[in-house]
Amino acid sequence: MSNEWLDTIVIARYDATARIVVLDLISPDGAELPEFAAGAHVDVLLDGDGAAGLIRQYSLCGPPHDRTRYQLAVLAEAASRGGSLGMHRLRAGDRLRISRPRNRFGVSDRARRHLLVAGGIGITPLLAMAHLLQATGAEYELHYCARSRADAAFLGELERNPRVRLHFDDGPDYQRFSAGDLGPPDPDTAVYVCGPGGFMDFVISSAQGAGWPADAIYKERFAPVQDADAHTEGGAFTVRLAKSGGEYEIKEGESVLDVLLSEGVDAPYSCQQGICGECIVRVLAGEPDHRDDILTDRERADGMFTTCSSRALSPILELDL
Ligand code: FES
Repeated sequence: MSNEWLDTIVIARYDATARIVVLDLISPDGAELPEFAAGAHVDVLLDGDGAAGLIRQYSLCGPPHDRTRYQLAVLAEAASRGGSLGMHRLRAGDRLRISRPRNRFGVSDRARRHLLVAGGIGITPLLAMAHLLQATGAEYELHYCARSRADAAFLGELERNPRVRLHFDDGPDYQRFSAGDLGPPDPDTAVYVCGPGGFMDFVISSAQGAGWPADAIYKERFAPVQDADAHTEGGAFTVRLAKSGGEYEIKEGESVLDVLLSEGVDAPYSCQQGICGECIVRVLAGEPDHRDDILTDRERADGMFTTCSSRALSPILELDL
């Protein structure tokens, strides 16, 4: 992976809820951190006790115009394999290595109005977008859905913002989120969704059922829709690399990315789950079998392809690598 790691120091840490910790990071010498776009995430390298070598992605949730610090909010996952629990163990003064910010979930520059719909910890990238939209005077609304008030982070600041609507699962019916909260489809409005898979599926299908076109809905998933096996099931095919001329057979049970990395090819990647977009390359010939959760229909039609999760329907796939 062509990752350039940045050293940071945890300058502040607080528990936003019983399961969400908020961490503020600064550079060790106090210099400005690299700029980032609202919606961006960083890879975090966890190499502490019990979590050696883990890489996890977390969205930056602070204001994008503040380069003195990055802010992350991390949910303690019940099924954590060390990533989120390693983050919860961090204390002020600890060091943390992160990548430069990356973004596949930016604010649309075509839309005049923005509807942000967050479920649970999906508030993180949308909070950064709300900071940006507020600072630029854009028209926006943020809907934040949580199980209960006790499970909602950033409530103090969100409740002061008249553009924010809160929805709690354990609250009365009238305040629960529904497709009606999006209003009728509007060509000048973009909808942004982030949260757990079931929540996202509900919001996206509700919006599309109400007539919102797919290309007006921007989404970021924290987990793939299907399990990892779905990325490697299927017959063998050959990948040809246009730049190096190398040819590699991808057998059932292997991903294109796995094979390229094992052969020493310097292919970009990060999540290896089809959700971050870091491994996207262009297909020059052949018929791809897309199995990612990130590319839009337009990007697929333009020849984009994720090497970590997608396969081929043709015997040979030629990639721009
Ligand atoms: S590495 Fe994240 S989508 Fe492929």
